[in-house]
Amino acid sequence: MSTEVLIPTEGQEDLVKRGYSRRQLGRISALLGAGAVATRYLMPEAYAQQSAKPVLDAVRIGANECWVGPFPSGIAAATEMAVLGNRYDPENEQDKLKAVISSVEKLPVDHIIAWPGSSDPLSRCVVTFCSPTKGLVTADPTYEAAWRTADWVGAPLKKVPMAPGKGADVRKMLAANPKAGLYYICTPNNPTGSITPIADIEWLIQNKPADAVVLIDEAYIHFSTSPSAAYLAAQRKDVIVMRTFSKLFGMAGMRLGLTFAHPELHEKMWRYDGRQVTNQLPMTAVACGRVMYDDAAAIKTRRDEMIANRTRTVEFLTRNGVTVHPGSEANMIMVDWKKPAAEMQKALLAQKVQIGRSWPIWPTVSRVTIGSTDDMTKFCEAVLKVIRA
Ligand SMILES: Cc1ncc(COP(=O)(O)O)c(C=O)c1O
Repeated sequence: MSTEVLIPTEGQEDLVKRGYSRRQLGRISALLGAGAVATRYLMPEAYAQQSAKPVLDAVRIGANECWVGPFPSGIAAATEMAVLGNRYDPENEQDKLKAVISSVEKLPVDHIIAWPGSSDPLSRCVVTFCSPTKGLVTADPTYEAAWRTADWVGAPLKKVPMAPGKGADVRKMLAANPKAGLYYICTPNNPTGSITPIADIEWLIQNKPADAVVLIDEAYIHFSTSPSAAYLAAQRKDVIVMRTFSKLFGMAGMRLGLTFAHPELHEKMWRYDGRQVTNQLPMTAVACGRVMYDDAAAIKTRRDEMIANRTRTVEFLTRNGVTVHPGSEANMIMVDWKKPAAEMQKALLAQKVQIGRSWPIWPTVSRVTIGSTDDMTKFCEAVLKVIRA
């Protein structure tokens, strides 16, 4: 398929002007034209384990999913919307969603865009703000999707090690590439759950080059009580804050995500697909997300349940001599087995418990998602069996 078919002329011209070759255009076209599907399936072999297939009869605490689906109010709203499924947009559903988000986040409506999940805008930010001469800078370990896109499109990548239990080291990130196109900060971070303080994010914004963009990925923010950086998206023209409904709201399979940014940044991100992706949201997901977003009591109840399960799990592991990194404020912990994490992952799977992957920087450390009370009891029992075997 030719790139002419998939990327509008304006988008192609912009990419060529910024130094992308015709061959790279083809790759970007495959990535964005096929949307979120491409970000998962066009990945190099090295990233294959990131999307490990779920083992259906195991305890599934490997993919940072929520242990339950949407709140009952969300399921009811999605069900009602399914009845109106003959309409592309029954009653300005996107506007209704944005109105709720605007009032909760105190952001202008024109700074809010909804996506089918956050994988697309994450990947799209790398394409839009990086190039073969403008690199990407991230912490390490962090969520690898941005690395994958940078690899795929040929943008230079710098990964800056973080200390266990700490957030991104923003000063070292800027030093690693003082002329980058995009600085990516995930807070709470996947896989560590650690927070990058707002003061550090503000420092990075004030000290980075004027034409660089800072992307703050707050996929896990509702699991934490730390403050959001959303207000920065209203104040600045070089900050994007990203959210997803795939985590605390339990909508990973329903697909809904958000970006908060100045309209000029969103215009840039749209150049490559003529808004195809944002115009085609599933209305069931939009309705479901809308009714949950301002339900502070239900959000707190779910967060408290996760924190109780996380605390109990960390206490159990520590009592039994297993090292857990401190500082997680999200639905995941980093467990240092002091031996290859892949071996422990396999041994636990034999006990029907599927934990998460490890990152090359810390090969003895596994990410373990916090699931239900029952999930975590089974995980703890399986760990005891394996370490005592
Ligand atoms: C930090 C982070 N950002 C973005 C995503 C993408 O999630 P989704 O496309 O389901 O919104 C994930 C998924 O695990 C994630 O952990």
